[in-house]
Order: sequence, then C-alpha cells, then structure tokens
Amino acid sequence: MSVGAAVRDEFPIFEHAVYANSCSQGALSTRVRAAVEGWISGWDENGAEWDFWVERNEAARAAFAGLIHAEPDDVAVTTSVSQGVSALVSALDLAGQRNRIVVSEYEFPTVGQIAHAQELRGAEVVHVRPEDDGRISLDRFAEAIDERTALVCCTAVSFRSGHRHDVSAVAELAHAAGAPLLADSYQAVGALELDVGTLGADIVTAGTVKYLLGSAGLGFMWLRRSLRETLVPTQTGWFADEDIFAMSIADYSPHASARRFDSGTPPVPSLYPGVAGMELIAEAGVPAIESHVRGLVDRFLVGLDELGATVATARGEHEYGPLVCVVSTDPNALVEALAARNIVTSTRDANLRVSLHLYNVEDDVGRILEALAANRALLA
Ligand SMILES: Cc1ncc(COP(=O)(O)O)c(C=O)c1O
Repeated sequence: MSVGAAVRDEFPIFEHAVYANSCSQGALSTRVRAAVEGWISGWDENGAEWDFWVERNEAARAAFAGLIHAEPDDVAVTTSVSQGVSALVSALDLAGQRNRIVVSEYEFPTVGQIAHAQELRGAEVVHVRPEDDGRISLDRFAEAIDERTALVCCTAVSFRSGHRHDVSAVAELAHAAGAPLLADSYQAVGALELDVGTLGADIVTAGTVKYLLGSAGLGFMWLRRSLRETLVPTQTGWFADEDIFAMSIADYSPHASARRFDSGTPPVPSLYPGVAGMELIAEAGVPAIESHVRGLVDRFLVGLDELGATVATARGEHEYGPLVCVVSTDPNALVEALAARNIVTSTRDANLRVSLHLYNVEDDVGRILEALAANRALLA
C-alpha cells in the first residue's frame, strides 16, 4: 500500500476535499486533534501540568532533531522561525567589517525583514536575485558573498516558486568566505530528507505548521555546535538560561546547548499537536514520504505538460520538492475555480501553488489536472 493510502484515513478532510495546500498548512489528522484535546483536558483536570509541559518541550526538541538527523542539544525550540532568526542575528556583531547579510530573493518575508531590521545595527543587506528562468545561479551567490559577509540566508525550498536550492553548494561559498549559512527549511522538513550532517548549512529553521502536520506557534532552529558555541544572543528569555529554575535576575548566563536560543514559557498548546504531527511523519519515514511525493509530483508535471501549462518551478532532478507552482493569468480566480470542485490550493505571485504530501494519492493528482483542464483559460 502506498504511503498515501496507508495514512489517508487519519485525515478527515479527504472525505470531502482534495487537499493540496500543505505548503500553507498541513491537513489535520485525528491523532493531532486528539493531542490538542489532550492539552485541554489535562489543563481542565490537573491545572498547571508544568512538569509534563517541560517534558513535551523536550519531546518536541527530540522529535525535530530526529527528523533532521541531529542531536536534541543542538536544537532550539522557538515559537516561530521569526523568533529563532531574530535571536540568531542578535548574536552577530554587525558593527565591524563583517556587516553584510546576504539573502536569496526566495527567502520568506520574515527572513528578509529581519535582515533589513539589522540595518539599524549597522548591517548591509545584499539580495541575490534569480535569472529570467527563475533559478538563482551559484554565480550570483558567489558575487554576493565575500569577507564582509556575516550571514548567508538560502532557503531550502522557496515558498513562492517551489525552487529547491543546492544548499550545500551555497554553503561551500559561504564557508570559503568565513560566513555561516542559514537554510530556512520550513518548506522542506517532513517532505524531503534533510540530514544536517551532509546539508552543509550551519543553521536550519522550520516549524510545525506545514509538512510536519502540527499547528502554528512551534518552530525550531538547529545550529552547528562549533558555531553555536561562539554565538551569544542578546534576544533571550528565561528558558534560555543555564538554570531555568534558579530564577535569578542577577545576571545573564545562557545555556551551553542550543537552548540558549529558546525564549520564554514554551509554546505549550502547540507542543501537543506538534509532537503528534512529527510522530506521524517519523512513522511514515521521510525517505518514503519523499519518494511517494516525487512520484505524485512527476505525474502532475507530465499532466501539466500535456495541458501546455507554464510551470514556474525549475525541473532539474534536484531542483524541486513537494511544491509545484503553475503560472496563471488570474491565480485567485483559479484557486476559487478549484475550490468550487473541493480542491484546496493557494497562490503566490502569479502562480497557483499545488503542494503534495504523504496523504495525497494519484487520484488527487488526476482530479487537480481534470480541474485545470476545465479551467485551461486561467493557465498562462
Ligand atoms: C519558508 C518559510 N519560512 C518561514 C515561514 C513562517 O515563519 P514564522 O514561523 O516566523 O511565521 C513560512 C510560512 O509561513 C515559510 O514558508
């Protein structure tokens, strides 16, 4: 039985819809729903389940670490990518020679905006723009990175085009210039196999809203140990302290581990669904999910070619993942036309976004293609 058919019963939305919008929010499973209900009933029955909450925080850290082949001590638990990246840049000295933050044009807004916010601290932001074919070439990165670079931001998969970067090649350029590389991997973790041992990135961020099948309010930041030990964030909180329960207000003593990038009270309501969602992904296995999704995406691409559609996502062997962007003459109208057939998708720029995950099956792809054929006039 395919990964899709094996887990589909756990996702009630498929009883009435074709869900192809995991790039925005993963579908709700019965087990994630039960986890959310467990949070409410535990609160109701026992009041503050503080010890269990702290344990859930550690369970979330360990679950995320497992998915990227990392050690839990190298993972910070955050409330969002934004919180993690803000804490990260707060640890950079941007007043000296190394004051440049290099951002690919495919970063999520939060990464670009946080980079520009550092202009107030002396930073310069350098944008690396795509070519006409939508690819951002290594040459453009090479031109942008030099001994003035403090940080390179290269998202693993673009939320707006579906492009998948060659993170390790860009990391090599960053490392040759003595700079660390941040790979925001929100659009990859859970759907694509990522191993921090080979990825090349020095910092990896993600959260549970999308392919990890949890809710908003929970994110993670992995940091290479040798780098992290040199970073002292000035954006912090009491859960980042070396001894949380010392409750001291006399000094700042950040934890030796990546917990130094944690913040205040853990995002308790989001830990329950987050852990349940990540367990589901781990059970299915990311390599199996990746190959299942690749099969569906390739089937979809063939169908798009048959329709003569323009695909915005690059098509090289390693240039795409679970998200396919299709150029539309009126993307909002197209999303609505698909919604009228109970197909859930989304848009960015001039593109329809179709993202496929472990619970999708061939029949979903067929129904999406059928709907697109019926709305051919809305495809560019
Ligand atoms: C690539 C990427 N990064 C980050 C985010 C979200 O960032 P945050 O967790 O700060 O809301 C998203 C989607 O919401 C995303 O697609």
